[in-house]
Amino acid sequence: MHLRSLSLRDFRSWPEVELTLEPGITVFTGRNGFGKTNIVEAVGYLATLSSHRVSADAPLVRAGAETARISATAVNDGRELTAHLLINPHKTNLAQLNRTRLRSPREVLGTVRAVLFAPEDLQLVTGEPAQRRRYLDDLIGLRRPRLASARIEYERIIRQRNALLKSAGSALRRGYSAADGEAALATLDTWDAQLARVGAIVTAERLALVRDLGPLIEQAYMTLAPTSRAAKIRYRPKVADLVADIPAGSARDSVEDVPAEPDVLEAMLLTGLAQQRTKEIDRGISLVGPHRDDIDVLLGDQPAKGFASHGETWSMALALRLASYLLLREDGPDPILILDDVFAELDRRRREALVEIACQAEQVLITSAVGEELPDGLADAGFTSHHVDMRDGDNGRISVLDAQ
Ligand SMILES: Nc1ncnc2c1ncn2[C@@H]1O[C@H](COP(=O)(O)OP(=O)(O)OP(=O)(O)O)[C@@H](O)[C@H]1O
Ligand SMILES: [Mg+2]
Repeated sequence: MHLRSLSLRDFRSWPEVELTLEPGITVFTGRNGFGKTNIVEAVGYLATLSSHRVSADAPLVRAGAETARISATAVNDGRELTAHLLINPHKTNLAQLNRTRLRSPREVLGTVRAVLFAPEDLQLVTGEPAQRRRYLDDLIGLRRPRLASARIEYERIIRQRNALLKSAGSALRRGYSAADGEAALATLDTWDAQLARVGAIVTAERLALVRDLGPLIEQAYMTLAPTSRAAKIRYRPKVADLVADIPAGSARDSVEDVPAEPDVLEAMLLTGLAQQRTKEIDRGISLVGPHRDDIDVLLGDQPAKGFASHGETWSMALALRLASYLLLREDGPDPILILDDVFAELDRRRREALVEIACQAEQVLITSAVGEELPDGLADAGFTSHHVDMRDGDNGRISVLDAQ
C-alpha cells in the first residue's frame, strides 16, 4: 500500500501541512531539529496508535494547541481509504474513516500499515521489557487489528485490579476474618478470573507471533551480520518462572517450551496469582500476567542485552524491524517502509541490506539530516525529495515544508 496524501494540523512542530505523496521513495531533508521525524512519527502513529518516541500523547500536540490532527489517504490495490485521527490528550482521541466516525480509534488500525526503523530501535535490545512487549503488541495490532482488543481489555483489567489492590489494601490484609476483608477478597477473585482469562489470550497471541517471527529474524540477522552467531527470540512469560509445574500433557511450543493453548495458560495464570496473592496485597500491584512478560533476544545462547557488541546490537535491532516488515508483507498488503535517520548509524553492509528492501517496497519514507549522505543505491532507484525548514511563528518556531 501507499499513502497518496498526508496532512497534519498542530502535530508537534507542524501547525499545518498538506503533502501529496507518490509510490516509491520520498526523502525529507533538513537541518537537525527542523521537524523531519515529526512527519514520519505521525504516519507511524496512524499505523499503530502509538509514537516511537513517547508513550504519552501530550508531547505530540503542538505547544499552545489543544488537539492535533493526522489525516492520510491510503491506497491499497486501487482502493482508497482516508483516515483522520484527532489526538486529544485531555479527553479521548477520535477517529474517522472516510466520512464515518468510528466508535473507537482502534478501529482505524489496519488502514495504514507501516514499519518504522529509527535509532530508538536499539532499545528493543538494550531497553526495558516494556519496549519489547510493545514491539510485539504493535505488530499484532497491524497484522490482525481485531486482536488488539484483547490487549486493550487486559490493560483495563490491570488498571482496575491495581486500583483495588491499592484502595482495599488494608481490608484485603484483614482477610476472611473481617466482613470487609471477605468482600474485598471476593472482588479480587473476580478480577483474578478476568486477568487469567484475557491474559491467557494476550499471551497466546504473543507466543503465536514470536513463533511466526522466529525464522524471519534469524534470516534477517544472517543477512545483516553473516559472520555473527544465530539470532533468536524467545517469549518468556513471567508466570512460567513462577509456576514450575506446567500441567502435564500440554502441547509444548517448540521454540518456547511454554504451552501455547489459552486454557493451559489461563490455568497457569490462576496458579501464579494464587501463589503471589500475599505479595500483591503487600505491594499493591499486579505481579503476574503478560504485562510483566519479556522476550529474550539471543545471539547464539547468550542474551544480546549485556553481551552483544554495539554493531551486533544494531544488527539485531534492525533484524527485529526487518522481520516485522517481512511478516506483514507475507500476510497482507505491502507495508509502508519508514526509515528515520538510520543510514548514518549503519555500516556499508547494513545500509545495502536496507536499500535492497527499500528498492522493492511500494512506498518508502526517509528522513535524512542535511550533510548526511544517502546510500548510492537510493539515488540509483530515484526519489522525490522535500525540504523541511523552520520559521519563527507567533507561538515559537514552526516547521514549514518546501518553504511554503
Ligand atoms: N509538541 C511540540 N510542539 C512544538 N514543537 C515541538 C513539539 N514537539 C517537538 N517539537 C519540536 O520539533 C523539533 C524536533 O523535530 P524532529 O524530531 O522532527 O527533528 P528532525 O528534523 O527529525 O531532527 P534530527 O535531524 O535531529 O533528527 C524540535 O525543535 C522540537 O522543539
Ligand atoms: Mg529526526
